[in-house]
Amino acid sequence: MLFEQYNLAGIELKNRIVRSATYEKRADVDGFITDALIEFYKELAKGGVGLIITGNALVHISGRSVPQMICIHNDYYIDKLKRLTEAVHKLGGKIVIQLVHGGRQCFPALLGGLQPIAPSEVYDPSTKITPREMANEEIWEIIEAFGDAARRAMYAGFDGVQIHGAHGYLISEFLSPHTNRRDDYWGGDEERRFHFLEEVYKAMRKEVGDNYPILIKMNADDFIEGGLIPEESLRIAKGLEEMGIDAIEISGGMYESAPKTAQPNILNTEQEAYFRENSRLFKKELNIPIILVGGIRSKSVAEDILQKGDADLISISRPLIREPDLPNKFKEGKEKADCISCNGCMRFQKLNVVKCTQINK
Ligand SMILES: Cc1cc2nc3c(=O)[nH]c(=O)nc-3n(C[C@H](O)[C@H](O)[C@H](O)COP(=O)(O)O)c2cc1C
Repeated sequence: MLFEQYNLAGIELKNRIVRSATYEKRADVDGFITDALIEFYKELAKGGVGLIITGNALVHISGRSVPQMICIHNDYYIDKLKRLTEAVHKLGGKIVIQLVHGGRQCFPALLGGLQPIAPSEVYDPSTKITPREMANEEIWEIIEAFGDAARRAMYAGFDGVQIHGAHGYLISEFLSPHTNRRDDYWGGDEERRFHFLEEVYKAMRKEVGDNYPILIKMNADDFIEGGLIPEESLRIAKGLEEMGIDAIEISGGMYESAPKTAQPNILNTEQEAYFRENSRLFKKELNIPIILVGGIRSKSVAEDILQKGDADLISISRPLIREPDLPNKFKEGKEKADCISCNGCMRFQKLNVVKCTQINK
C-alpha cells in the first residue's frame, strides 16, 4: 500500500510517504528562501517522497524559536517562497508549508531581548524561561497573523498549509492544561482552551476559502503531568473534523517532556512507530485522513500500519535528513532506513545547517 497513490484533500500524492515538517536552518538570517534551501528541497522531491511538509515557518515575529527558519509573516516573503514551490512542482513533488508561532519555547536572544509570550506565565524548566502572559489584543493579532500567513502560502503556490499545533509551541500551549492556566475566553476549561485553535482555523479558512487544504500536526499526548492526554486530544480532533480540517498528523511531547517527540535509539521494529496506539485511536473515531509520525524506520512496519488501518499516511523526519532518497530506495527494495536516531541532527546551535552528523562529520 505504501506506494499506492493517495488523494489528500485534493492533493494527488504519488505514494503514502510524507516528509514530516523538519526545520532546515537554511533560510537567510531574515527568513527568506535561499538557493541552498531550494536545492535541499529539490533533493527531497527527487528522492520520491509523496508529500513534503516544510520546516516550521514563522507567522509573527514574536514567535521566532530558531535562527534561519523560513518566514512568512510579511508579503515580502511571497516571491521567494514561490521559487521554492515552483522548483518542487517542476520535479513532480507536492509541498505543504507548516505554520508556527513558538510561544514560550522561544529564546529572548531571537526576539531582540524580549520575553517570549504564552497563554500563561508557566516556567519551563527545560529552557529556564518564564513567558509573559498574552493580552487579549495580542491573542487576536496572532490569530490574524495565522490567517495572513495561510493566504501568503496559497499565493506562493503551496499545495496546502499545516498548522503546527504540536510540541509545546503556542497553539499546543493554549490546548494544554499544563501551559494554559487562564480563566477567560481562552482558558479555564477544555472548551475554552480550544478557542485559540478554533479562531486560528477560522481565520485561515476565511483567507483561503473552502477548497484549500488545511492540515494540522497535534499532540495526542503532552507526556507531562497535568498536560494533554489522548482522551482530550481526541475530543479536540473531533472538533477540528467538524469544522472542516483536512487531515491530522499525530505526534506528542513538548520541550519540557523531551525526548518524547523525537525519541532516540530506535534500533528494532518494536521501538518503531511510538505513537501508533494514538493514531489507531484517532483512526477509529474519525473519518478524516490520519498521518502518523514518530520512529518509523522499516518498510515492513510502514506497510503494516497501513494494512491494519492504523494510519492513512506514513510520516518520516530524521531518516530523510540522512537519506532524502529513502522513498525511492524503499521502492527499489531497501527494507530499513540507515538513520540510527542518534539525534545529532537536533543539535541546532552547533550545526551550520540541519544535517546528519553520522555521515557529515
Ligand atoms: C532536526 C529536526 C527538526 C524538526 N523540526 C520540526 C518542525 O519544524 N516542525 C515539526 O512539527 N516537527 C519538527 N521536528 C519533529 C519531526 O517532524 C518528527 O515529529 C520527529 O522527529 C519524529 O519523527 P522521526 O522519528 O521520523 O524523526 C523536527 C525534528 C528534527 C529531528
